[in-house]
Amino acid sequence: MSKICVIGTGYVGLVTGTCFADLGNRVVCLDVDESRISRINDGVMPIYEPGLEQLVEQNVHSGRLTFSTNPQEALANAEFAFIAVGTPSGVDGEADLQYVRSAAESIADNVDHPIVVINKSTVPVGTGDWVTDVIKKRRGGTPLEFSVVSNPEFLREGSAINDFMNPDRVVLGSTNREAANQVAQLYLTLRCPILVTDLRTAEMIKYASNAFLATRVSFINEIANMCEELGADVREVSLGMGYDRRIGHAFLDAGLGWGGSCFPKDVKALAHMAVLHGTHPQLLQAVMEINRNQRRRVIFKLRKALGSLNDKVVGVLGLSFKPNTDDIREAPSLEVIHLLLNEGAIVKAYDPQAMENAKAMFSRITLCENPYEVADGADALVLATEWNEFKQLDFERICQLMRRPLILDGRNLWDANALRGMGFTYYGVGHSTQANGE
Ligand code: UDX
Repeated sequence: MSKICVIGTGYVGLVTGTCFADLGNRVVCLDVDESRISRINDGVMPIYEPGLEQLVEQNVHSGRLTFSTNPQEALANAEFAFIAVGTPSGVDGEADLQYVRSAAESIADNVDHPIVVINKSTVPVGTGDWVTDVIKKRRGGTPLEFSVVSNPEFLREGSAINDFMNPDRVVLGSTNREAANQVAQLYLTLRCPILVTDLRTAEMIKYASNAFLATRVSFINEIANMCEELGADVREVSLGMGYDRRIGHAFLDAGLGWGGSCFPKDVKALAHMAVLHGTHPQLLQAVMEINRNQRRRVIFKLRKALGSLNDKVVGVLGLSFKPNTDDIREAPSLEVIHLLLNEGAIVKAYDPQAMENAKAMFSRITLCENPYEVADGADALVLATEWNEFKQLDFERICQLMRRPLILDGRNLWDANALRGMGFTYYGVGHSTQANGE
């Protein structure tokens, strides 16, 4: 059993702290946001993550997990301090490290015992050395026995607990191998490969992994766009490719592209690092451009079917950047809605989990209670997020409710032929270019 402090109670920190507690450690999750900590202490989660509420409740009840806004209390006796704060994109796409700096300085101000500081947040290559320097400078002449370890997270929103408990690998990087080995002990029970390397290599593994996954998606989306013009079916192309063990089936689904708080930020930050260090990230630039273009193609298809979109009613199903999360950051739906509003369209939308976040984001669209309200009177229905509850809608009812039976299936969720058989004009992504499927 180790004493762990996790700084930051967002998508990464809250899951990391709770899971470490569930593994038997004593964990204090620290945040500067009083209201956030108060809500968590009342059992109200700040994020939607399947299984999290119950896991927090179990571990708080067991006494292994507590939440605090007091750094002295949270860091007292901590053997490990995980920095799991946000690293949002700055103006040029670089990672904004102001919160990492605050966390590092908080450790320097409140710890006078040996401690291992772990960067869990996604931080630019070289940040481990920078955190070491921040702490040393903050301590001034007062010595502190500490080491910095990079331990990037590979958690997917919507499956974060499972991803923590069943990792494909744990990556650790440090200038102090003993410190990395101490952190490795925390993960031994998970029985997964643990790669111990240097700081910069560990930091690069995180960026390279996310950038590669984003590249796969943009690759299949570029193939999808070719399929639309060449009369092939990208879903079958993806299936045929994936049987090759070197390719695999994962992250090869064409659609509206990638969003979320990670891929966009990480790909931009990696490209920025490249430019700052004199290399030209032409592949990453193309990966980002293809992704942006997937949103625009929705508008092209709607214009093709409806002509001008001015005053047309367009329903959008799904606002979160992917299913099983309430996170709408950089969601494809946001860009699609922005483009629709720019064309004078009237937009209605619904999402199973992201409505609260959507209310804060959108003032010029109608937020509905369910998919049928979205379809009512609509000239077109766009699927932006492939939530399970959208799979088996009552399409006979939807067809009657809509002003025009036009569907743009942004995630290839539905059966094109079945919908056409009901009288819908159907557009997918990467197959049956013609609305009626010729
Ligand atoms: C990602 C990485 O998977 C995770 O390892 C890292 O720690 C954080 O970033 P996340 O952003 O939660 O996780 O979502 P992910 O499931 O990776 O999907 C990212 C985006 O790609 C989503 O918008 C999703 O819709 C899109 N996507 C994914 C596709 O468009 N096609 C695919 O085949 C897979």
